[in-house]
Amino acid sequence: MNQTAPTPRVAVVTGGLGGLGTEICRQLAEAGHQVIAVDLPAREERLQAFHESLADLNGAVKYEPADVSQFDSCADLVARVEQRHGSVDILVNGAGITRDTSLRKMTPQQWHDLMRVNLDGVFNMCRNVVEGMTTRGFGRIVNLSSVNGQTGQFGQTNYSAAKAGVHGFGMALARETARKGITVNTVSPGYCDTALVAAVSADVRAQIIADIPVGRLGSAGDIARAVTFLAADDAGYITGANLPVNGGYFMSF
Ligand code: CAA
Repeated sequence: MNQTAPTPRVAVVTGGLGGLGTEICRQLAEAGHQVIAVDLPAREERLQAFHESLADLNGAVKYEPADVSQFDSCADLVARVEQRHGSVDILVNGAGITRDTSLRKMTPQQWHDLMRVNLDGVFNMCRNVVEGMTTRGFGRIVNLSSVNGQTGQFGQTNYSAAKAGVHGFGMALARETARKGITVNTVSPGYCDTALVAAVSADVRAQIIADIPVGRLGSAGDIARAVTFLAADDAGYITGANLPVNGGYFMSF
């Protein structure tokens, strides 16, 4: 078979220093792309650990600070990336936080803080890259949602609402951009071996793992595999889709 090497692209991954984000950066770099990991300004030790963990990739992953909850910060970031590395072809919106508590106890601050990162952040980033992608006639946007956006979860009215919103946003944007060579898809991780899940109480976590048909938490690699697949040049006929990666925890058709 006559196989040509994939075109190297510039990929921006928000939440890039996080458990899932770092592995997404790795797999995109391994696929031949120049990757920019975006996260809040981080302490030197954390950045050093991040770079050391990706040292074998020879500089294919760079770090740029930005706050996805702030529109202007995203605009500055995209301008900086374009100046230093070139046009953004792939955008992975992975930045996310939890503020778990039942609605009866949830403060407006806990609601708004979460919405600003998990949902406004997706708007802020997409809004700043979509024009360029449209002009160039190519783009891959992958938004990270969650199984809990599909099912709801006790103590997560804010998170479940934002994560369901992410897929609604993605479907609408997919329609608006489909004729411009841009795809917009969602990956919905289940419970993975990350700090967010480690923060859930041990008994709740044990019950969740018992309910996962595959019998284990997901790995960052499991999620990155799905993201990299949807970000590929030859995934151009998949748009507006949701790809669940949850070990069978929630199955739907
Ligand atoms: N299911 C059923 N009942 C529950 C419950 C649950 N998961 N959690 C609490 N309750 C009950 C309590 O027993 C209590 O009952 P009573 O009033 O009869 O005593 C009542 O609900 C209120 O409980 P709390 O006061 O403890 O509630 P809280 O507001 O402090 O918060 C919580 C509870 C810690 C958020 C807990 O519900 C919980 O751990 N939920 C799961 C959170 C979770 O899974 N988060 C996922 C984080 S990882 C992630 O989000 C990544 C991803 O995409 C998957």
